[in-house]
Amino acid sequence: MKKTIKDFNLKNKKVIIRCDFNVPIQNGIIMDDNRIKESLKTIRYARKNGAKVILLSHLGRIKSLEDKEKYTLKPVAQRLSQLLRKKVKFINQTRGKEVEEAISEMKERDVILLENTRFEDLEGKKESNNDKDLGKYWASLADIYINDAFGTIHRNHASNVGIASNIKSAVGFLVEKEIKNLNKLINKPKKPYVIILGGSKVSDKINLIGNLITKADYLLIGGGMAFTFLKAAGFNIGCSLLEKDQISFCAKLLNDYPDKIVLPIDIITATSINDEKTKERFLGEIEDDEIGLDIGPKTVKVFKQYLDDSKTIFWNGPMGYFEIEKFASGTKNLCKIIAATNANTIIGGGDTARAVIEMGYKDKMKHISTGGGASLEFLQGSKLAALEVIDEQE
Ligand code: 3PG
Repeated sequence: MKKTIKDFNLKNKKVIIRCDFNVPIQNGIIMDDNRIKESLKTIRYARKNGAKVILLSHLGRIKSLEDKEKYTLKPVAQRLSQLLRKKVKFINQTRGKEVEEAISEMKERDVILLENTRFEDLEGKKESNNDKDLGKYWASLADIYINDAFGTIHRNHASNVGIASNIKSAVGFLVEKEIKNLNKLINKPKKPYVIILGGSKVSDKINLIGNLITKADYLLIGGGMAFTFLKAAGFNIGCSLLEKDQISFCAKLLNDYPDKIVLPIDIITATSINDEKTKERFLGEIEDDEIGLDIGPKTVKVFKQYLDDSKTIFWNGPMGYFEIEKFASGTKNLCKIIAATNANTIIGGGDTARAVIEMGYKDKMKHISTGGGASLEFLQGSKLAALEVIDEQE
Protein backbone atom coordinates (compact mmCIF):
# COMPACT_ATOMS: atom_id res chain seq x y z
CA MET A 1 0.00 0.00 0.00
CA LYS A 2 1.25 3.43 -0.92
CA LYS A 3 1.47 6.16 1.71
CA THR A 4 -1.31 8.71 1.55
CA ILE A 5 -1.33 12.33 2.64
CA LYS A 6 -2.96 11.20 5.88
CA ASP A 7 0.24 9.36 6.86
CA PHE A 8 2.12 12.62 7.44
CA ASN A 9 2.00 15.32 10.09
CA LEU A 10 1.75 18.36 7.85
CA LYS A 11 1.84 21.08 10.50
CA ASN A 12 4.13 23.91 9.45
CA LYS A 13 5.63 21.69 6.74
CA LYS A 14 6.34 22.84 3.21
CA VAL A 15 4.29 20.47 1.07
CA ILE A 16 4.51 20.24 -2.71
CA ILE A 17 1.26 18.97 -4.16
CA ARG A 18 1.62 17.94 -7.81
CA CYS A 19 -1.78 18.46 -9.41
CA ASP A 20 -3.04 17.99 -12.95
CA PHE A 21 -4.29 21.43 -13.88
CA ASN A 22 -4.01 20.61 -17.58
CA VAL A 23 -7.39 22.20 -18.37
CA PRO A 24 -8.68 23.72 -21.61
CA ILE A 25 -8.13 27.50 -21.59
CA GLN A 26 -9.31 29.82 -24.36
CA ASN A 27 -8.26 33.49 -24.30
CA GLY A 28 -7.50 33.24 -20.60
CA ILE A 29 -10.85 31.61 -19.78
CA ILE A 30 -10.99 28.12 -18.29
CA MET A 31 -13.48 26.09 -20.34
CA ASP A 32 -13.66 23.13 -17.97
CA ASP A 33 -12.55 23.24 -14.32
CA ASN A 34 -13.31 19.63 -13.38
CA ARG A 35 -9.66 18.76 -12.79
CA ILE A 36 -9.23 21.84 -10.59
CA LYS A 37 -12.29 20.93 -8.54
CA GLU A 38 -11.08 17.35 -8.17
CA SER A 39 -7.85 18.62 -6.61
CA LEU A 40 -9.58 20.64 -3.88
CA LYS A 41 -10.00 17.86 -1.32
CA THR A 42 -6.26 17.33 -1.00
CA ILE A 43 -5.42 21.04 -0.98
CA ARG A 44 -8.09 21.75 1.65
CA TYR A 45 -6.86 18.86 3.80
CA ALA A 46 -3.27 20.12 3.62
CA ARG A 47 -4.34 23.65 4.60
CA LYS A 48 -6.59 22.45 7.41
CA ASN A 49 -3.64 20.54 8.83
CA GLY A 50 -1.34 23.55 8.82
CA ALA A 51 0.77 22.91 5.71
CA LYS A 52 2.41 25.53 3.54
CA VAL A 53 1.07 24.42 0.19
CA ILE A 54 3.21 24.68 -2.95
CA LEU A 55 1.30 23.61 -6.06
CA LEU A 56 2.92 22.32 -9.24
CA SER A 57 1.30 21.34 -12.52
CA HIS A 58 1.92 21.06 -16.23
CA LEU A 59 -0.34 22.61 -18.86
CA GLY A 60 -0.25 21.57 -22.51
CA ARG A 61 2.94 20.60 -24.29
CA ILE A 62 5.52 23.37 -24.60
CA LYS A 63 7.50 23.45 -27.83
CA SER A 64 8.10 27.15 -28.54
CA LEU A 65 8.37 30.51 -26.82
CA GLU A 66 4.88 31.42 -28.10
CA ASP A 67 3.47 28.41 -26.24
CA LYS A 68 4.54 30.04 -22.97
CA GLU A 69 1.93 32.76 -23.31
CA LYS A 70 -0.78 30.32 -24.27
CA TYR A 71 -0.03 27.87 -21.50
CA THR A 72 0.56 30.01 -18.42
CA LEU A 73 -1.08 28.69 -15.24
CA LYS A 74 -2.13 32.18 -14.14
CA PRO A 75 -5.86 31.65 -14.90
CA VAL A 76 -5.72 28.48 -12.79
CA ALA A 77 -4.41 30.44 -9.78
CA GLN A 78 -7.37 32.81 -10.14
CA ARG A 79 -9.92 30.01 -10.39
CA LEU A 80 -8.34 28.20 -7.44
CA SER A 81 -8.50 31.37 -5.35
CA GLN A 82 -12.25 31.56 -6.02
CA LEU A 83 -12.85 27.89 -5.25
CA LEU A 84 -10.73 27.86 -2.08
CA ARG A 85 -11.91 31.32 -1.00
CA LYS A 86 -8.28 32.02 -0.27
CA LYS A 87 -5.74 33.92 -2.34
CA VAL A 88 -3.49 31.58 -4.25
CA LYS A 89 -0.28 33.43 -4.94
CA PHE A 90 0.92 32.84 -8.49
CA ILE A 91 4.68 32.88 -9.14
CA ASN A 92 5.37 33.18 -12.87
CA GLN A 93 8.61 31.20 -12.55
CA THR A 94 9.39 27.51 -12.21
CA ARG A 95 12.57 28.09 -10.19
CA GLY A 96 14.95 30.77 -8.95
CA LYS A 97 15.14 33.58 -6.44
CA GLU A 98 11.52 34.71 -6.72
CA VAL A 99 10.28 31.17 -6.11
CA GLU A 100 12.60 30.62 -3.16
CA GLU A 101 11.75 33.98 -1.53
CA ALA A 102 8.02 33.41 -1.92
CA ILE A 103 8.35 30.02 -0.25
CA SER A 104 10.50 31.34 2.59
CA GLU A 105 7.82 33.96 3.35
CA MET A 106 4.98 31.43 3.49
CA LYS A 107 2.90 30.95 6.63
CA GLU A 108 0.82 27.93 7.61
CA ARG A 109 -2.22 27.44 5.30
CA ASP A 110 -0.77 29.70 2.58
CA VAL A 111 -0.99 28.44 -1.00
CA ILE A 112 1.26 29.31 -3.92
CA LEU A 113 1.20 28.01 -7.47
CA LEU A 114 4.38 27.97 -9.53
CA GLU A 115 4.38 28.40 -13.31
CA ASN A 116 3.80 25.48 -15.71
CA THR A 117 6.41 22.77 -15.06
CA ARG A 118 6.71 22.15 -18.81
CA PHE A 119 8.21 25.61 -19.36
CA GLU A 120 11.31 23.65 -18.34
CA ASP A 121 10.96 21.67 -21.57
CA LEU A 122 12.08 24.56 -23.76
CA GLU A 123 15.72 23.99 -23.04
CA GLY A 124 16.51 20.29 -23.17
CA LYS A 125 13.11 18.91 -22.16
CA LYS A 126 14.19 18.98 -18.53
CA GLU A 127 10.71 18.30 -17.11
CA SER A 128 9.63 15.63 -19.60
CA ASN A 129 13.00 13.85 -19.58
CA ASN A 130 13.06 13.83 -15.79
CA ASP A 131 16.27 15.84 -15.54
CA LYS A 132 17.88 14.73 -12.27
CA ASP A 133 18.95 18.22 -11.19
CA LEU A 134 15.51 19.69 -11.79
CA GLY A 135 13.80 17.00 -9.70
CA LYS A 136 16.36 17.54 -6.94
CA TYR A 137 15.89 21.30 -7.07
CA TRP A 138 12.09 21.14 -6.73
CA ALA A 139 12.47 18.59 -3.94
CA SER A 140 14.80 21.01 -2.11
CA LEU A 141 11.94 23.51 -1.87
CA ALA A 142 9.78 21.29 0.36
CA ASP A 143 9.65 18.72 3.18
CA ILE A 144 6.97 16.44 1.73
CA TYR A 145 5.76 15.60 -1.77
CA ILE A 146 2.17 14.62 -2.52
CA ASN A 147 1.27 13.33 -5.96
CA ASP A 148 -2.36 14.07 -6.72
CA ALA A 149 -1.98 14.33 -10.51
CA PHE A 150 -3.59 11.14 -11.75
CA GLY A 151 -3.55 12.44 -15.34
CA THR A 152 0.25 12.20 -15.45
CA ILE A 153 0.72 9.22 -13.16
CA HIS A 154 2.02 7.20 -16.16
CA ARG A 155 4.69 9.80 -17.01
CA ASN A 156 8.30 9.71 -15.85
CA HIS A 157 8.82 13.44 -15.35
CA ALA A 158 10.88 15.64 -13.03
CA SER A 159 7.79 17.03 -11.27
CA ASN A 160 6.58 13.58 -10.29
CA VAL A 161 9.21 10.80 -10.39
CA GLY A 162 12.05 13.30 -9.98
CA ILE A 163 10.77 14.97 -6.81
CA ALA A 164 9.40 11.79 -5.23
CA SER A 165 12.81 10.14 -5.60
CA ASN A 166 14.34 12.83 -3.41
CA ILE A 167 11.93 13.50 -0.51
CA LYS A 168 9.24 11.78 1.55
CA SER A 169 6.23 11.12 -0.64
CA ALA A 170 2.61 10.03 -0.67
CA VAL A 171 -0.44 10.13 -2.88
CA GLY A 172 -3.30 12.61 -2.47
CA PHE A 173 -7.02 11.86 -2.22
CA LEU A 174 -7.66 12.09 -5.96
CA VAL A 175 -4.99 9.56 -6.93
CA GLU A 176 -6.20 7.30 -4.11
CA LYS A 177 -9.80 7.51 -5.35
CA GLU A 178 -8.86 6.92 -8.99
CA ILE A 179 -6.81 3.81 -8.23
CA LYS A 180 -9.48 2.40 -5.93
CA ASN A 181 -12.33 2.93 -8.40
CA LEU A 182 -10.44 1.79 -11.47
CA ASN A 183 -9.23 -1.31 -9.65
CA LYS A 184 -12.74 -2.16 -8.52
CA LEU A 185 -14.29 -1.70 -11.91
CA ILE A 186 -11.61 -2.97 -14.19
CA ASN A 187 -9.99 -5.92 -12.47
CA LYS A 188 -12.03 -8.94 -13.51
CA PRO A 189 -14.55 -6.86 -15.45
CA LYS A 190 -18.05 -8.28 -15.76
CA LYS A 191 -18.69 -9.47 -19.31
CA PRO A 192 -19.56 -8.44 -21.94
CA TYR A 193 -16.88 -5.80 -21.59
CA VAL A 194 -16.92 -3.05 -24.21
CA ILE A 195 -14.20 -0.46 -24.69
CA ILE A 196 -15.02 2.66 -26.69
CA LEU A 197 -12.10 4.66 -28.05
CA GLY A 198 -12.20 8.02 -29.76
CA GLY A 199 -10.61 11.44 -29.52
CA SER A 200 -7.71 12.92 -31.37
CA LYS A 201 -4.55 11.86 -29.49
CA VAL A 202 -4.36 9.10 -32.10
CA SER A 203 -0.83 7.74 -31.83
CA ASP A 204 -0.94 7.81 -28.00
CA LYS A 205 -3.79 5.34 -28.06
CA ILE A 206 -3.06 3.30 -31.13
CA ASN A 207 -0.10 1.81 -29.32
CA LEU A 208 -2.32 0.59 -26.48
CA ILE A 209 -4.98 -0.99 -28.63
CA GLY A 210 -3.06 -4.20 -29.30
CA ASN A 211 -3.19 -4.94 -25.60
CA LEU A 212 -6.67 -3.61 -24.81
CA ILE A 213 -8.25 -5.73 -27.49
CA THR A 214 -7.18 -8.89 -25.72
CA LYS A 215 -9.03 -7.79 -22.57
CA ALA A 216 -12.32 -6.53 -24.03
CA ASP A 217 -15.05 -8.39 -25.86
CA TYR A 218 -15.59 -5.52 -28.27
CA LEU A 219 -13.72 -2.37 -29.19
CA LEU A 220 -15.91 0.37 -30.65
CA ILE A 221 -13.82 2.99 -32.41
CA GLY A 222 -15.03 6.51 -33.23
CA GLY A 223 -13.65 10.06 -33.16
CA GLY A 224 -10.46 11.12 -34.88
CA MET A 225 -8.72 7.80 -34.44
CA ALA A 226 -11.35 5.88 -36.45
CA PHE A 227 -10.06 7.33 -39.70
CA THR A 228 -6.70 5.58 -39.62
CA PHE A 229 -8.63 2.32 -39.23
CA LEU A 230 -11.06 3.24 -42.01
CA LYS A 231 -8.15 4.08 -44.28
CA ALA A 232 -6.56 0.74 -43.40
CA ALA A 233 -9.86 -0.94 -44.30
CA GLY A 234 -9.58 0.65 -47.75
CA PHE A 235 -12.00 3.58 -47.51
CA ASN A 236 -11.41 7.12 -48.75
CA ILE A 237 -11.37 9.37 -45.67
CA GLY A 238 -10.90 12.68 -47.52
CA CYS A 239 -8.94 15.14 -45.37
CA SER A 240 -9.83 13.47 -42.05
CA LEU A 241 -7.25 12.93 -39.32
CA LEU A 242 -4.75 10.27 -40.38
CA GLU A 243 -1.66 8.71 -38.82
CA LYS A 244 0.00 7.38 -41.96
CA ASP A 245 2.65 5.42 -40.09
CA GLN A 246 -0.04 3.49 -38.19
CA ILE A 247 -2.03 2.27 -41.21
CA SER A 248 -0.31 -1.10 -41.44
CA PHE A 249 -0.68 -1.66 -37.69
CA CYS A 250 -4.41 -0.89 -37.93
CA ALA A 251 -4.74 -3.20 -40.96
CA LYS A 252 -3.15 -6.03 -38.97
CA LEU A 253 -5.52 -5.49 -36.04
CA LEU A 254 -8.52 -5.50 -38.36
CA ASN A 255 -7.27 -8.71 -39.86
CA ASP A 256 -6.53 -10.38 -36.50
CA TYR A 257 -9.73 -9.28 -34.72
CA PRO A 258 -12.42 -8.92 -37.39
CA ASP A 259 -15.24 -9.70 -34.93
CA LYS A 260 -14.01 -7.54 -32.08
CA ILE A 261 -13.30 -4.18 -33.71
CA VAL A 262 -16.39 -2.20 -34.63
CA LEU A 263 -15.87 0.83 -36.90
CA PRO A 264 -18.28 3.61 -37.90
CA ILE A 265 -20.49 2.98 -40.93
CA ASP A 266 -21.48 6.60 -41.47
CA ILE A 267 -19.75 9.89 -40.77
CA ILE A 268 -20.74 13.55 -40.43
CA THR A 269 -18.42 15.55 -42.67
CA ALA A 270 -17.72 19.19 -43.59
CA THR A 271 -15.02 20.90 -45.60
CA SER A 272 -13.91 22.79 -42.46
CA ILE A 273 -15.12 23.11 -38.88
CA ASN A 274 -16.60 26.51 -39.80
CA ASP A 275 -18.52 25.09 -42.74
CA GLU A 276 -22.25 25.87 -42.35
CA LYS A 277 -23.20 22.77 -44.32
CA THR A 278 -22.53 19.32 -42.91
CA LYS A 279 -23.08 16.06 -44.75
CA GLU A 280 -24.08 12.60 -43.62
CA ARG A 281 -21.87 10.18 -45.53
CA PHE A 282 -21.80 6.42 -45.69
CA LEU A 283 -18.36 4.89 -46.04
CA GLY A 284 -17.37 5.07 -49.67
CA GLU A 285 -19.16 8.41 -50.14
CA ILE A 286 -16.64 10.73 -48.45
CA GLU A 287 -15.25 13.26 -50.97
CA ASP A 288 -11.56 14.20 -51.14
CA ASP A 289 -12.09 17.68 -49.64
CA GLU A 290 -14.25 16.51 -46.72
CA ILE A 291 -13.22 16.04 -43.10
CA GLY A 292 -14.95 13.53 -40.85
CA LEU A 293 -15.97 15.38 -37.70
CA ASP A 294 -18.48 13.10 -35.97
CA ILE A 295 -19.90 9.60 -36.19
CA GLY A 296 -23.27 9.42 -37.96
CA PRO A 297 -26.69 8.27 -36.64
CA LYS A 298 -26.45 4.79 -38.17
CA THR A 299 -23.16 4.21 -36.37
CA VAL A 300 -24.78 5.28 -33.11
CA LYS A 301 -27.44 2.59 -33.67
CA VAL A 302 -24.78 -0.04 -34.33
CA PHE A 303 -22.78 0.96 -31.23
CA LYS A 304 -26.00 0.89 -29.18
CA GLN A 305 -26.52 -2.80 -29.95
CA TYR A 306 -23.16 -3.62 -28.36
CA LEU A 307 -23.64 -1.28 -25.40
CA ASP A 308 -27.19 -2.26 -24.41
CA ASP A 309 -26.12 -5.76 -23.36
CA SER A 310 -22.75 -4.90 -21.86
CA LYS A 311 -21.87 -5.25 -18.16
CA THR A 312 -18.70 -3.15 -18.19
CA ILE A 313 -18.07 -0.12 -20.39
CA PHE A 314 -14.87 1.90 -20.53
CA TRP A 315 -15.01 5.02 -22.69
CA ASN A 316 -12.00 7.12 -23.64
CA GLY A 317 -12.22 9.85 -26.26
CA PRO A 318 -15.18 11.76 -27.72
CA MET A 319 -16.85 10.54 -30.92
CA GLY A 320 -16.45 13.86 -32.72
CA TYR A 321 -15.58 17.54 -32.45
CA PHE A 322 -18.17 17.88 -29.67
CA GLU A 323 -17.10 21.42 -28.70
CA ILE A 324 -19.05 22.53 -31.77
CA GLU A 325 -22.75 21.73 -31.50
CA LYS A 326 -23.17 20.44 -35.05
CA PHE A 327 -20.52 17.77 -34.43
CA ALA A 328 -21.66 16.85 -30.91
CA SER A 329 -24.50 14.41 -31.68
CA GLY A 330 -22.40 11.24 -31.72
CA THR A 331 -20.87 11.99 -28.31
CA LYS A 332 -24.22 13.15 -26.88
CA ASN A 333 -26.09 10.07 -28.06
CA LEU A 334 -23.42 7.78 -26.70
CA CYS A 335 -23.70 9.50 -23.29
CA LYS A 336 -27.43 8.88 -23.34
CA ILE A 337 -27.08 5.22 -24.35
CA ILE A 338 -24.38 4.49 -21.78
CA ALA A 339 -26.28 6.27 -19.01
CA ALA A 340 -29.31 4.07 -19.67
CA THR A 341 -27.41 0.77 -19.32
CA ASN A 342 -26.92 -1.20 -16.12
CA ALA A 343 -23.23 -1.62 -16.86
CA ASN A 344 -20.31 -0.49 -14.72
CA THR A 345 -19.44 2.67 -16.63
CA ILE A 346 -16.03 4.26 -16.48
CA ILE A 347 -15.23 7.46 -18.29
CA GLY A 348 -11.52 7.90 -18.90
CA GLY A 349 -10.04 11.21 -19.74
CA GLY A 350 -10.12 14.97 -19.81
CA ASP A 351 -12.15 15.50 -23.00
CA THR A 352 -14.54 12.61 -22.45
CA ALA A 353 -15.05 13.64 -18.82
CA ARG A 354 -15.72 17.19 -19.96
CA ALA A 355 -18.27 16.04 -22.55
CA VAL A 356 -20.10 13.80 -20.09
CA ILE A 357 -20.22 16.49 -17.40
CA GLU A 358 -21.24 19.30 -19.80
CA MET A 359 -23.94 17.14 -21.30
CA GLY A 360 -25.41 16.48 -17.85
CA TYR A 361 -24.57 12.79 -17.36
CA LYS A 362 -22.07 13.05 -14.50
CA ASP A 363 -24.24 11.30 -11.93
CA LYS A 364 -25.10 8.45 -14.27
CA MET A 365 -21.53 7.15 -14.53
CA LYS A 366 -19.84 4.92 -11.93
CA HIS A 367 -16.49 6.64 -12.24
CA ILE A 368 -15.24 9.61 -14.20
CA SER A 369 -11.46 9.54 -14.30
CA THR A 370 -9.40 12.72 -14.63
CA GLY A 371 -6.76 10.83 -16.63
CA GLY A 372 -7.04 9.93 -20.30
CA GLY A 373 -3.72 8.29 -21.19
CA ALA A 374 -3.26 7.40 -17.52
CA SER A 375 -6.50 5.44 -17.23
CA LEU A 376 -5.73 3.61 -20.48
CA GLU A 377 -2.29 2.65 -19.20
CA PHE A 378 -3.88 1.51 -15.96
CA LEU A 379 -6.44 -0.50 -17.89
CA GLN A 380 -3.84 -2.42 -19.80
CA GLY A 381 -1.91 -3.18 -16.63
CA SER A 382 1.17 -1.02 -17.26
CA LYS A 383 3.37 0.02 -14.37
CA LEU A 384 2.67 3.69 -13.60
CA ALA A 385 6.06 5.38 -13.20
CA ALA A 386 4.96 8.17 -10.87
CA LEU A 387 3.05 5.80 -8.61
CA GLU A 388 5.81 3.20 -8.41
CA VAL A 389 8.16 5.72 -6.87
CA ILE A 390 5.82 6.81 -4.02
CA ASP A 391 6.80 5.59 -0.53
CA GLU A 392 5.16 2.41 0.75
CA GLN A 393 3.30 2.39 4.04
CA GLU A 394 5.38 0.98 6.91
C1 3PG B 1 -3.89 14.57 -19.99
O1 3PG B 1 -4.48 15.56 -20.39
O2 3PG B 1 -4.13 13.41 -20.42
C2 3PG B 1 -2.88 14.71 -18.89
O3 3PG B 1 -2.88 15.98 -18.33
C3 3PG B 1 -1.51 14.33 -19.38
O4 3PG B 1 -1.11 15.18 -20.39
P1 3PG B 1 0.06 14.71 -21.40
O5 3PG B 1 -0.56 13.63 -22.25
O6 3PG B 1 0.40 15.94 -22.19
O7 3PG B 1 1.19 14.20 -20.57
